[in-house]
Amino acid sequence: MTKLIGISGALRKASTNTGLLRALKDLAPQHVELEIVTLHGIPLYDGDDEAANGKPQSVKDLDARIRAADGVIFACPEYNFSVPGVLKNATDWLSRGSAFLKWKRVGIVGAGAGFFHGTGRSQYHFRQNLQALQAIVMPKPEIFVNHNEDKFDADGNLTDEETRKHLAKWLEAFLEWVEKKP
Ligand SMILES: Cc1cc2nc3c(=O)[nH]c(=O)nc-3n(C[C@H](O)[C@H](O)[C@H](O)COP(=O)(O)O)c2cc1C
Repeated sequence: MTKLIGISGALRKASTNTGLLRALKDLAPQHVELEIVTLHGIPLYDGDDEAANGKPQSVKDLDARIRAADGVIFACPEYNFSVPGVLKNATDWLSRGSAFLKWKRVGIVGAGAGFFHGTGRSQYHFRQNLQALQAIVMPKPEIFVNHNEDKFDADGNLTDEETRKHLAKWLEAFLEWVEKKP
């Protein structure tokens, strides 16, 4: 059994990025368990809170789930050409006092609106954050889903077959990255 955790950088219910993770879960072979988590309940990082109370329980719980996984997939939306605050904030909390992603096999996916980029800029910024966290991030293939307004339904479910095919290839490569550790 290969255990993956998929972390969405978006909080909205109909998020297309969370939808990408659901599509990956559907595509996963039987021996792969993909747990999808959102970052609801992670408070803003505050050094005074940390000094007084340590890490919040929500951060400790996420830390434990990540450590138990063989691989981590981040679905990374693009906000103002970069990583959404909720995702950056969560990794900042998680990074305090522990190398939670050290040598962990990690992949990044993302979906965005319109013709250009499809989260390319945020994914590249997030790669830089992951370098600080000592994650081993799959170099390629990459997946930047553009025009998400046409490729997902109103609930954020992937409906575009071409994208599903690309995602299946991405997942195949990611499983090799996690399981065979090339
Ligand atoms: C605050 C904010 C900033 C955004 N900035 C960008 C941006 O710089 N580039 C881009 O392609 N899309 C941008 N968007 C659009 C989002 O990428 C788009 O809404 C996407 O669907 C969000 O992902 P989700 O469907 O998972 O919620 C922005 C959206 C928000 C809310």
